[in-house]
Amino acid sequence: MGEAFLLIVRWLHAIAAVTWVGGGIFYWAVLKPALRTQDSNTFMARVAGPEFGQLVGVAMGTLILTGSILAVDRLSEQEATGTYGILLGVKILASAWMFAVVLARRRPRRGAESQGSSKTAMSFLTSVNSSIVIGLVVFFLSDMLRFLIERNLAQ
Ligand code: HEM
Repeated sequence: MGEAFLLIVRWLHAIAAVTWVGGGIFYWAVLKPALRTQDSNTFMARVAGPEFGQLVGVAMGTLILTGSILAVDRLSEQEATGTYGILLGVKILASAWMFAVVLARRRPRRGAESQGSSKTAMSFLTSVNSSIVIGLVVFFLSDMLRFLIERNLAQ
């Protein structure tokens, strides 16, 4: 694959990852504490939930597409050892868990109609918490993958 193309794919992958996990951290560390103390609770929950949900949807699609391209490229390299393959498999499983959390929260649940849109939006945002922890693990796994390749290149 062309080097310029791969550079753009890697850049898109990193931007999507930072948007998702960074957005989740912002929600958890800044927005959620603020919502607890402000009167604007309902408005923020109604606006921030669906907007962030859309952003996560775009990030998820981008991560799957660009991640698949990066994986095919890396696995065709000589430096990609068995350890690399196993670690990539663990990363894909962890990513699948993140995607599943988002998709599960999007499915309309029984009784959701009676909850009201602000409560539904809040409950979507709350699910972001579990994605943050897995997302941070996925970031670490990605750094390990890169480290493995660079170490094998240096040998
Ligand atoms: C279908 C799911 C995914 C696949 C197949 C995938 C695959 C890959 C591959 C092959 C690499 C290159 C690793 C290397 O340098 O050898 C990579 C890098 C990376 N991935 Fe993923 N990934 C996926 C999802 C995710 C998710 C969900 C996140 C974050 C939450 C993420 C964050 C990153 C980061 C931060 C890098 C490093 C980018 C860089 O060095 O510029 N990936 N990914």
